[in-house]
Amino acid sequence: MALTFDDGPGEYTAHLLDELKQADARATFFMLGQNVHAHRDLVRRMAAEGHELANHSWSHPQLTSLSSAGVRSQVRRTQEAIKEASGVEPTLFRPPYGATDARVGKAIGMPLIMWSVDSLDWRYRSVARNARVGVREPRRDGVVLYHDIHEASVEAAPKVVAGLKRRGFTLVTVSELYQGKQLKPGRLYPKW
Ligand code: NI
Repeated sequence: MALTFDDGPGEYTAHLLDELKQADARATFFMLGQNVHAHRDLVRRMAAEGHELANHSWSHPQLTSLSSAGVRSQVRRTQEAIKEASGVEPTLFRPPYGATDARVGKAIGMPLIMWSVDSLDWRYRSVARNARVGVREPRRDGVVLYHDIHEASVEAAPKVVAGLKRRGFTLVTVSELYQGKQLKPGRLYPKW
């Protein structure tokens, strides 16, 4: 299964990378382009430590309210920022708020990665709750959504990783999860 962290990088991301390294676990980071420049070192470190770097738009707009040109700009500028910081060009996109449709999906032009477990960590900000949900709810091939911009989410991460390992899960990146499967641009994964 795959742990995913959205909306960073931010002030807690370095600590999260420390925890993931300690636990020998891989994650996928859906980053905002506007946050990349101030944290270029972290973005480079993610790549070096085996995590997946992925695109979550430039500034987190509701993409369905933008023109197709506006959508393409959100995607392209973030691709460029991540590539400039790390040398890695993302292949996966997660639409902010999960908001997309056929037109937006076509403008994005990348596979759209949703989730099977929403931790709702942005709402509850509770380490105990974040840990409980992240350990109990995932099923095989699951994709779990957290945000590394919230301290309680990062604090829960080592407990989540330990609990999932106890349940027998292997933590992989989203691309590793779908290895051998041809992901199509504009389509939603997991099945939505
Ligand atoms: Ni987001």
